Amino acid sequence: MSLPLEGIKIIDFTGVQAGPSCTQLLAWFGADVLKVERPGVGDVTRNQLRDIPDADALYFTMLNSNKKSLELNTKTPEGKEIMEKLIRDADVLVENFAPGAMDRMGFGWERLQELNPRLIFGSVKGFGENSRYSDLKVYENVAQCAGGGASTTGFWDGPPLVSGAALGDSNSGMHLAIGILTAIIDREKTGRGQKVTVSMQDCVLNLTRVKLRDQQRLERVGYLEEYPQYPHGTFTDVVPRGGNAGGGGQPGWVLKCKGWESDPNAYIYFTLQEQNWARTCEAIGKPQWADDPEYATTKARQSHIFEIFGYIEEWLSDKTKYEAVDILRKYDIPCAPVMNMKEIANDPDLRESGTIVEVPHKKRGSYLTVGSPIKFSGFKPEIVGSPLLGEHTDGVLRSLGYTEEQIAQLHEHKVV
Ligand code: COA
Repeated sequence: MSLPLEGIKIIDFTGVQAGPSCTQLLAWFGADVLKVERPGVGDVTRNQLRDIPDADALYFTMLNSNKKSLELNTKTPEGKEIMEKLIRDADVLVENFAPGAMDRMGFGWERLQELNPRLIFGSVKGFGENSRYSDLKVYENVAQCAGGGASTTGFWDGPPLVSGAALGDSNSGMHLAIGILTAIIDREKTGRGQKVTVSMQDCVLNLTRVKLRDQQRLERVGYLEEYPQYPHGTFTDVVPRGGNAGGGGQPGWVLKCKGWESDPNAYIYFTLQEQNWARTCEAIGKPQWADDPEYATTKARQSHIFEIFGYIEEWLSDKTKYEAVDILRKYDIPCAPVMNMKEIANDPDLRESGTIVEVPHKKRGSYLTVGSPIKFSGFKPEIVGSPLLGEHTDGVLRSLGYTEEQIAQLHEHKVV
């Protein structure tokens, strides 16, 4: 089956998660992605958090499927020469090294343009180029803190909290992928490549925009009516942490179900949808609340929101999270079980849709990974295992015209 990005050549000069998640997505959609890695070392995640000695860690395998691997020391003259050949022939180069590393290596944006004016150069950094923090090295949680995610997550009486979702890393990778695809379309019109940059701080903020909405509302009216602090608590001039509050116009909360005392995930998320209030009352056995002025509007309910949620928890006490959702779905209540990772790993629907896939690996045997969360009517991305370090080195060198003797020498000198 022909894939949409077939023929697009990408040099994947990335590591850890932010860059690899971007190039992996493009590889799923058919791009020819070549990961360039330090000889003998490779992407640091190959070694991090290993569960099988001597086999690439899941951290690596789950972010580098569908790619090829070339070992290459790009700081040696021979290595630079090989890299230049690759760049001349590539459509895209993606990197997420520490600030300044590409310039130090001699592959800054100006040099890349000289080598190949059609090249699209994708780059992830922790902060924007103009930022006072632009020189900082950044990992996931640093970005979540800098982008507004942490100050707005958690409970009001606890510290800022980071999310388990990779809002800094994979989210930045997805933003960069959108930017690269946009630049590819633009190049069809202009014939020229361009530099596409994303900062992890910006990408976290893009997903935290409702809190920027709330900051402005707070400054105008002094309170936020959908937060648990309203109407009985107090507000400062900064958006507070709202626990599990809905975040939009529909109040909600995480509620205990049967078994919560021993199962930390025996909960559901329950939403009090304004337009569905009468049916919600019917579902939970409180039909009298439907027209009671104390409960009939979102505004009125906010005064006793925790009394309402407390009552619903009583109603839930003899129902598992799955039983509860099966009842509530009949009443159109927006809700879902809190799914733990074991349940997600074994979920038949996620397996069937290809969102979770099991793929073979030469050293590990098979492993579970995420497949494309984006579904197409015209094709289905096929996820294959990640490459071993340097698995494609010799093949790539041959395709660049190197003889067997030259290849042997490059190995001997540890250039590859
Ligand atoms: N051949 C030779 N040298 C190579 C190489 C290769 N194939 N690949 C990398 N290197 C070199 C780099 O040029 C750099 O050298 P320099 O420090 O002399 O300039 C060195 O290896 C290390 O680079 P890097 O991996 O960036 O540094 P680090 O491990 O100390 O930092 C990060 C890791 C993630 C903190 C840093 O890369 C960073 O802040 N990146 C931008 C933000 C980002 O993407 N963070 C999220 C990661 S999920």
